[in-house]
Amino acid sequence: MENPARTAAYHALIEERRRALRKDLTRILPPGTMLTWEVGCGHGHFLAAYAQAHPDRLCVGIDIIGERIERAVRKRDRARLGNLHFLQADARLFLEEFPSSASLAEIFVLYPDPWPKLRHHKHRLIQPDFLNAAAARARNGCHLHFRTDYQPYYESAVLTFEEHPRWRLIRADWPFEFETVFQQRAESYHSLTAELRS
Ligand SMILES: C[S@@+](CC[C@H](N)C(=O)[O-])C[C@H]1O[C@@H](n2cnc3c(N)ncnc32)[C@H](O)[C@@H]1O
Repeated sequence: MENPARTAAYHALIEERRRALRKDLTRILPPGTMLTWEVGCGHGHFLAAYAQAHPDRLCVGIDIIGERIERAVRKRDRARLGNLHFLQADARLFLEEFPSSASLAEIFVLYPDPWPKLRHHKHRLIQPDFLNAAAARARNGCHLHFRTDYQPYYESAVLTFEEHPRWRLIRADWPFEFETVFQQRAESYHSLTAELRS
């Protein structure tokens, strides 16, 4: 049975996180910003290297685990990368609070949690509701780059993109190679790129 006090505390916590996220996004995304977004950036290895190689692009990495974001921020500060930000945030909350004056130019989803058990597939990131929300905040032609070492997730992601009305799979070279922590441990991996249709 639901505990009303716990439910109220949970809602208050989410509301507090929303407020903090809104404030951060207003601070780092001036109107008109087009950004490179990495979802589930872990310790930020990939995006720090990407931002260093692309000083003209504003890059934002998010992860739900605070300790990973703290390490990523330290990496950003050491490298003095003014075009890079890391925020502790859930992907869906991030998209809900994303300002309408900004847009996603490019999205990376690298080695997302695979959730192998059937009853946990609902937790996978690549699902129609996430793709709808990302499409609503992305510029036309936005590329979403997805890579996983778990073949069944790759296959289900291909199907999800094929069935989605706004994203289409395209043949494209992988835009930037830099091993993530999970890529270092992977025996093999599969990649796809999807493009947002107008
Ligand atoms: C398997 S790790 C991969 C980390 C990194 N991309 C790499 O390749 O080394 C998946 C990451 O996604 C994060 N994550 C999972 N669900 C998320 C969500 N809904 N929003 C943001 N980050 C999430 C996890 O905390 C974890 O750090």
